[in-house]
Amino acid sequence: MKGVILAGGKATRLLPLTKITSKQLLPVYNKPMIYYPINTLVKAGISEILVIMAPDYAGHFLRLLGSGKDFGCKFSYEIQEEPRGLADAFIIGANFIGRDHVAMILGDNIFDYDFSRAISEFNDGALNFVKEVQDPERYGVVEFDENKKVLSIEEKPAQPKSNFASVGLYVYDSKVTEIARNLKPSKRGEIEINGEPSVNNEYLKLGELTVEIFDGFWEDAGTFDSLLRANNYWAEKVKN
Ligand code: DAU
Repeated sequence: MKGVILAGGKATRLLPLTKITSKQLLPVYNKPMIYYPINTLVKAGISEILVIMAPDYAGHFLRLLGSGKDFGCKFSYEIQEEPRGLADAFIIGANFIGRDHVAMILGDNIFDYDFSRAISEFNDGALNFVKEVQDPERYGVVEFDENKKVLSIEEKPAQPKSNFASVGLYVYDSKVTEIARNLKPSKRGEIEINGEPSVNNEYLKLGELTVEIFDGFWEDAGTFDSLLRANNYWAEKVKN
């Protein structure tokens, strides 16, 4: 299993914090944000990791993370010139992924959870993690039946069909690169992981999409409030 961290984008929601640096380099208590997704992958047993960055602060990522030796990993780097969508990670990362399985994590998603069992048991197809939330309309929303059979996935629907958000960690077999290459942009002009068309909906059509519910700590630290919550959570955790 290889790991990809998608850490590009323009992060305009966090201006002016992101005027002089990248969102994923901002502090979350005592570490730069990107340390958290790295640690989530490492804890899950993944040590070959591709970091995808926007061009502007790419040098800062390299200086911060280096070869990966300090994390017990091997890091590779790629630039995403424009934020074309989350599924672009699999096109940019196609050579890196090769014929292996891949776990893709968003660079602003902060978890405190051990995914190692789920990841080590992964065979093929697609595995997504979902968490029950109060505000599903902010996220990709997954509807499933009592046997956890997925019925639909929608990106930020006005009328969510469930309270389960698709969190920013996705596990796929190697055909994800081909699926991503064949995707057309959605209405908002991005190649998507959720929504229509999207990587997950392609796996759903193939009958190869499974979901796992998890109840650990999770924040998408892309807004001032969620960034503050992530900071407070880790401050408490580190001190206690
Ligand atoms: O956090 C979980 C949510 O992440 C999911 O529930 C949604 O289904 C998924 O679309 C995504 O929603 P966001 O609104 O958080 O997506 P955003 O466009 O903010 O991108 C997420 C991160 O990925 C962000 O840190 C920037 C980075 N990114 C985004 C795009 C579109 C890139 O590096 N490149 C890109 O092309």
